[in-house]
Amino acid sequence: MPTVLLLNGPNLNLLGSREPEIYGSTTLTDIEAQVSSALRERKIECEAFQSNSEGELIDWLHKQRDADFLLLNPGALTHTSVGLRDAVLAIEIPFLEIHLSNVHQREEFRHHSYFSDIAIGALVGLGVKGYLLATQFAADYLEQKAISASND
Ligand code: DQA
Repeated sequence: MPTVLLLNGPNLNLLGSREPEIYGSTTLTDIEAQVSSALRERKIECEAFQSNSEGELIDWLHKQRDADFLLLNPGALTHTSVGLRDAVLAIEIPFLEIHLSNVHQREEFRHHSYFSDIAIGALVGLGVKGYLLATQFAADYLEQKAISASND
């Protein structure tokens, strides 16, 4: 069974209570459950992880290098972390970047991402729906890949 990783960076453990006017009222546990359930319906396994520590996020990614797709919300590390970017490049797993808020409508320092130029695409400002749309994209992508492989 293919595996999709769902990785969330610093402070996203506080979703639900953290600045709900920006990030909404859904908790991370809820998002993980929704993504995981949508993937299960498509016969895809989900491995989810969140950490507030850059090193832990990098170590976790290294251990998951056999996975097939990555859904990534790096949180504030989006705008600062060459280390997490390098880890994503090192494991060579196709990925989508997700942000609940529209970072381009916010402070200038949130306009630059260390991930957008190496991601397949980015979903910004769509709230929880961004995670669910990204999940559908990942499932379609993996299905297409399996069809192509079986035709080779
Ligand atoms: C975020 C946007 C980041 O700028 C911020 O630091 C976050 C959350 C989002 O999902 O909108 O922690 O990634």
